[in-house]
Amino acid sequence: MRKLVHRPRRLRRSPALRNLARETHLSVHDFVLPLFVSEKVQQRRLIASMPGVFQLSAKEVADDARAARDLGLQAILLFGIPEQKDEQASGAYAEDGIVQKALRAIKSKCPELVTITDVCLCEYMSHGHCGVTRIDGDHFHVLNDETVELLVKTALSHAAAGADIVAPSDMMDGRVGAIREALDERGFDQTSIMSYAAKFASAFYGPFREAAESPPQFGDRRSYQMDFANANEALREVALDVDEGADIVMVKPALPYMDILWRVRERFRKPTAVYHVSGEYAMVKSAVEKGFLNERDAVIEIMTALKRAGADIIVTYWARELARWLRE
Ligand code: PBG
Repeated sequence: MRKLVHRPRRLRRSPALRNLARETHLSVHDFVLPLFVSEKVQQRRLIASMPGVFQLSAKEVADDARAARDLGLQAILLFGIPEQKDEQASGAYAEDGIVQKALRAIKSKCPELVTITDVCLCEYMSHGHCGVTRIDGDHFHVLNDETVELLVKTALSHAAAGADIVAPSDMMDGRVGAIREALDERGFDQTSIMSYAAKFASAFYGPFREAAESPPQFGDRRSYQMDFANANEALREVALDVDEGADIVMVKPALPYMDILWRVRERFRKPTAVYHVSGEYAMVKSAVEKGFLNERDAVIEIMTALKRAGADIIVTYWARELARWLRE
């Protein structure tokens, strides 16, 4: 047999050689932990479809944020569930709204923890859509510009309560530019924007809608979230958000959209985030509960793959476990 010069397997022989040749390393700093704070709970309430994830009171969310910080995590992403919903989503931008209260509580305990807030109206709207709606017969429209106005108010109130980064997740047109301008005008020029730039209308948000109590009461979100068949459209959406001043761009969900993630990172060279969403979490969790998968091995493989595909930031419900695993 011809003598081989190239033997790629040489570098796989031992753990030390594999460590030496490894291209992608996970760090606790890669992860953002989502937390759900609810005006309706006194004591943490388990979300059935997302084992290990809870709805928390404002006091508990500050405790959990501190515990996350103690594990070495640097950032959390906050979602709020209000007591009352209405058709103007007034809880989203109320000065003493649930997210605003939680932010103040968190910042008083851990000022250095990076607080990111989800800026969306669906949890605060009685109909569960991400914007102001108008119903014409059996059709409904989400009114873009009216919605953007409310999103701007929401982002400003989060910044005033101590958010370091606001993260609009609604997919209205022009909201990043409008939020940037308003933040700058009010002296919040240091508040960053992480835009959910390429957010697909996905089946994988199912469990989240239980967690955030935000399923649409009629219709679905396909008139504002993106068609999962489209990649060029995703790149155009990201280009707009970058143009309007997004500091970080996000692709969501994660695993079914790794091609998009890769292209966004390659093309725009912006800090790029990916959201490994509730359905992706539930899928692995249920296989783990049945004994079909080893949780730690599966999760480390998924997260490494996302980072390899270009993610600088990974939003994941496993952030705490990852922080522990990476320490061992
Ligand atoms: C909108 C929002 C959603 C998620 C994050 N922000 C739900 C939706 O668009 O229906 C989903 C996150 C997940 O599934 O983990 N506020």
